[in-house]
Amino acid sequence: MTYSRTFGEWYDFLMQFLEKPWLRHRRARLLAGLRGRILEVGAGTGINFEHYHPEAEVVGIEPSPWMIRQAVARKEQAANGASIALHQTGCGDPQLHDIVEESSLDYVVCTLVLCTIPDPEAALRDFSKWLKPGGQLIVLEHIRSHHRHIGRLQDILRPAWARIADGCQLNRPTDKLIGSAGFVPVRQEWFRVGLPFYEGVWGKGQY
Ligand SMILES: C[S@@+](CC[C@H](N)C(=O)[O-])C[C@H]1O[C@@H](n2cnc3c(N)ncnc32)[C@H](O)[C@@H]1O
Repeated sequence: MTYSRTFGEWYDFLMQFLEKPWLRHRRARLLAGLRGRILEVGAGTGINFEHYHPEAEVVGIEPSPWMIRQAVARKEQAANGASIALHQTGCGDPQLHDIVEESSLDYVVCTLVLCTIPDPEAALRDFSKWLKPGGQLIVLEHIRSHHRHIGRLQDILRPAWARIADGCQLNRPTDKLIGSAGFVPVRQEWFRVGLPFYEGVWGKGQY
């Protein structure tokens, strides 16, 4: 799998227009209270690191070399005391099973990443296996609209969007996939940032 250098290097610049007005406070709300062992999936440029609690013990995975080098720099700047370890790998890589053990995690954090992981169902099965009983999946994501016509428009735009945004699937119904994977909703909120977006906290199900 190759990752786009242009996308990796321009990501933060492009996202700044969404972050401050719409996403940053949601990241803070989702992450600030988390303690214990956390897997952050597709940590990207490390945009979430500033929000972690000093008692958070974060393992971040990120497959793109262009993204992870920025995450390493952010990790070094983060002064919040959270422990953050980074690995250049991603969901679907067998190496991941050497990094994360079954029933070892208090939280799995996925922000704007379930849209891009090639096999989200398999990833969700792994998250469920890796979470301790009582563990939670934390999600911030754009989703397929529940409105038929907008959803159809997203279907049409998906291939071009995926080329520009390094594999991101504009029409993925992530809010529905998580429930189908056996997770149990704790708190959910649907909102719009031009696109339909979603914020959710899910409990590990019966896996
Ligand atoms: C849109 S960016 C989101 C980055 C960051 N999580 C955020 O909230 O801004 C999508 C990220 O998913 C990563 N990614 C792509 N395939 C992945 C995989 N199989 N496993 C984990 N992360 C992956 C990309 O490299 C990229 O960093």
